[in-house]
Amino acid sequence: MLQIGGLIVFCGLLTQTTALLEALPLGQDLPSGPKDLAGSLRNALNNALLSGDLLETLTNLPLYDILKAEGDNSGNLVGGLLGRLTSMIPLLDNILDVKVINPQLLELGLVQSPDGHRLYVTIPLGLVLNVKMPLVRNLLKLAVKLNITAEVLAVRNEQGRIHLVLGDCTHSPGSLELSLLDGVGSLPIQNLLDNLTGVLTKVLPDLVQHQVCPLLNSVLSNLDLTLVHDTADKLIHGLTFVVKV
Ligand SMILES: *[C@@H]1O[C@H](CO)[C@@H](O)[C@H](O)[C@H]1NC(C)=O
Ligand SMILES: *[C@@H]1O[C@H](CO)[C@@H](O)[C@H](O)[C@H]1NC(C)=O
Repeated sequence: MLQIGGLIVFCGLLTQTTALLEALPLGQDLPSGPKDLAGSLRNALNNALLSGDLLETLTNLPLYDILKAEGDNSGNLVGGLLGRLTSMIPLLDNILDVKVINPQLLELGLVQSPDGHRLYVTIPLGLVLNVKMPLVRNLLKLAVKLNITAEVLAVRNEQGRIHLVLGDCTHSPGSLELSLLDGVGSLPIQNLLDNLTGVLTKVLPDLVQHQVCPLLNSVLSNLDLTLVHDTADKLIHGLTFVVKV
């Protein structure tokens, strides 16, 4: 309540005393207006990822094909995603189907680097995998959570125009969470489950990253120009605009 009151008072002051604000010493980190830049950016990225078919992309991850291909290449595993984990081949051959259902984009996280010049966007994704295997009577349902973290930088091109570009974009190591929702109680499936978890941990983060990072790259190059300009301006000057909560 206090905060909201404070904000209204502050906005009021801002509109009424522009002259006063202009007289303030330079170098102070003034908001560029009553709007919330970090909030606008988060909304714009969220909406653009969704309208860029992020969820459809996740639903259509070629997980089954990749698992099968890894299984079929058993004679030539060097360089394959699974390396030398040949003990998994029988498991891969036994997967009848893998379907992604209920993909979700959870709340985007924005963090600014300590020097203010870089922005880290965390894209938290959730989905459910339905896995069908001959030895398991029911579908195995696995809940998956994964964060993709992307670095965003402001650069000036040769014509002097500034824009936002994608730096490193990767899944944070160890950020894959897998949990069994359903499917136990039918068999002693612990070995199967361990194998499956092993395979998915190897394959899934890279697969998701290879879909989501290019999408984010195109989202950044199609963002609203004012938003890009305001954000890039803060980043270039190392001004804090993402407030830690
Ligand atoms: C994703 O990142 C958020 C913080 O941005 C964290 O709270 C959450 O636990 C992470 N999720 C995973 C699966 O690592
Ligand atoms: C897969 O499960 C089998 C037992 O069914 C086990 O011997 C093997 O080590 C497991 N492989 C991996 C990579 O977890």
